[in-house]
Amino acid sequence: MLLFLAALLALSGGALSLDKLNMCMDAKHHKVEPGPEGALYLQCSPWRDNACCTANTSEEAHNDNSYLYNFNWNHCGAMSSKCKEHFIQDTCFYECSPHLGPWIQPVDQSWRKERILNVPICKEDCERWWEDCKNDFTCKTDWHKGWDWSSGTNKCPKDSKCRKWTDVFATPKSMCEQIWSNSYIYTTYTKDSGRCMQLWFTGANPNKKVAEYYLNAAQRGQSYPVTTLLFLTVTSFFVTMF
Ligand SMILES: *[C@@H]1O[C@H](CO)[C@@H](O)[C@H](O)[C@H]1NC(C)=O
Repeated sequence: MLLFLAALLALSGGALSLDKLNMCMDAKHHKVEPGPEGALYLQCSPWRDNACCTANTSEEAHNDNSYLYNFNWNHCGAMSSKCKEHFIQDTCFYECSPHLGPWIQPVDQSWRKERILNVPICKEDCERWWEDCKNDFTCKTDWHKGWDWSSGTNKCPKDSKCRKWTDVFATPKSMCEQIWSNSYIYTTYTKDSGRCMQLWFTGANPNKKVAEYYLNAAQRGQSYPVTTLLFLTVTSFFVTMF
């Protein structure tokens, strides 16, 4: 009886964590379940083996003012191509990643039910992004909200002037964390650490192991209540029996 209960607990915990390691968030363009997508386009192609994005989404991710979000990268003059490359990669990561489970949170927004929060991103990916954009211009720190959408695409609200990138984002950390309202958290972990998520990779997706690490870390943090539950079950069993 006790063994059965313990097995049940272990099994349900295991099943939950398996889902969290291979799932798609409930958002605007994500598939319901991850799976192979042989035709993913250019920068999104590393996710071909297992993706939450469709080929259509992956192609649109490369377009200015794409049908995905009508988002205008060129709101303070044309964004340089080396900077834009990072925003395309960021879009591929957001739309295609099947391993964001540990950081998916419910959100009360008209265009999506879930978002990512505090995904630990690798130092090099964040720093190169900032380096490649630092001669560009923008008018806002948080690109999720506060735009003037009256024309159908985002324009700078009239109280915010275009400024040098480095005046808006003094450091790589401030850019990575603020630009998508804390979807990312800057880390000092490097890409070989296994402790941070990689926006840029080739070959097998390295992020599954990272998600597994953080999921297990979170469960170790929760092991006390599970132990308590087991203790209570055992106690009540003996109290009932004897
Ligand atoms: C993707 O799908 C949308 C909606 O069906 C369509 O308007 C768009 O042209 C498609 N894009 C590509 C690149 O096929």
